Amino acid sequence: MDKIRIRGGHALKGIIPISGAKNAALPLMSAALLTEGELKLSNIPYLADVITMANLLVQHGTTLHMDEKSASATGFGRTIGLKAANITNFTAPYDLVRTMRASVLVLGPLLARFGQAKVSLPGGCAIGTRPIDLHLKALEQMGALIELADGYINAFVKGKLKGADITFDTVTVTGTENVMMAATLAEGETTLRNAAREPEVTDLANCLVKMGANIQGIGSGTLIIQGTKALHGAEHSVIADRIEAGTYAAAAAITGGDVELQGVSMQILGAVAEKFAEAGIDIKPTAKGVRVTRNNGLNGVDVMTQPYPGFPTDMQAQMMALMTVAKGASMITETIFENRFMHVPELTRMGAKINVHGSSAMIRGAKQLTGAEVMATDLRASVSLVIAALAAKGDTIINRVYHLDRGYERLEEKLSACGAEIERIKS
Ligand code: UD1
Repeated sequence: MDKIRIRGGHALKGIIPISGAKNAALPLMSAALLTEGELKLSNIPYLADVITMANLLVQHGTTLHMDEKSASATGFGRTIGLKAANITNFTAPYDLVRTMRASVLVLGPLLARFGQAKVSLPGGCAIGTRPIDLHLKALEQMGALIELADGYINAFVKGKLKGADITFDTVTVTGTENVMMAATLAEGETTLRNAAREPEVTDLANCLVKMGANIQGIGSGTLIIQGTKALHGAEHSVIADRIEAGTYAAAAAITGGDVELQGVSMQILGAVAEKFAEAGIDIKPTAKGVRVTRNNGLNGVDVMTQPYPGFPTDMQAQMMALMTVAKGASMITETIFENRFMHVPELTRMGAKINVHGSSAMIRGAKQLTGAEVMATDLRASVSLVIAALAAKGDTIINRVYHLDRGYERLEEKLSACGAEIERIKS
């Protein structure tokens, strides 16, 4: 397994192009199953999770065409064409779902268009139990018959799904996406209340509208979808990855650097930009994106993760890495996932002072982190170690790099272009 070695202590300076959002690309790709027409998606990030989704769609019978010459001016982002005119297999197998929970996003589209889907139950993951009961309950309200057997969800519907008035008990991102996609091909009107408002959900809704769907309330907590008989092909560009941008903003800030993140806006960074400013980081819009600088010390700030527009759970670990060297104390409370402090023991090995009490972590700023050999069990926890390592004294070796490859496109290249001493050690 590959490792990453980082020698800390270099202030990051330069430009980082931000890739297309992983969490937008995955549902957008699964939306191809809703039509026999071609869905052409540009600004697709080249990531392990995107490849897993491509493999999943192809094994269902989707044809995939990648335009090799399609890299944007920055060298990142590809255009792919997906055509689900000949779907022959309605099963999402364990081997693929196991490696990526977002595989469950094929359930809604397959069921809505073909009246059947068999999807492996995702099971637990490193950050918690993460059930999908709300996806299933909503689809049942729309008339689906759902059985769980042998580790699989077997879903059927006689004829078409029927529009329904659905209230999600908890805000769920992929749940909203799955059911919204299903509703575009249902008979009649579906109302989704307490729907997720994440920009990635909005990006999917905008693409579905281009495909012929009728969706009102996009960007709000109530989505009203009028089902149509069929959708058609469309072209869509994936929005920028606000989590990737926030991650590099944290990396720039912890090193006292000066970095322009191209392709993102202050607006899409939202609560993350606000918290960074509160911590003493200069974060300002530029013509091409956002500039992050830090000339003064970092201040400890309190953070609580919330559904959008609150502070994202996917930035919690990176924020904690930043707070390990801030002045004073900070309290980070995780409200979305129950087991999302896997980075704490590893950051502690690098000299961070962190105490966890239930769903909150109290961080007391240390003067200096020190390099160590570390590993993490999920994507964002891994990248928080990268951030810590950039500011640490000496060398850090990060094991299990495959986590990073799931969500960060050419991380070493982007960081070393800004002066980081970082290398991948091939196993
Ligand atoms: C998505 C993101 C993930 C992010 C998360 C929260 C993708 C591919 N992944 O994951 O990066 O961390 O949103 O912003 O977009 N829940 C239930 N029952 C359900 C569904 C969810 O109880 O049926 C709970 C979960 O356990 C969790 C909370 O709801 O506590 C939010 O989860 P959800 O928004 O569904 O996360 P994902 O869509 O899996």
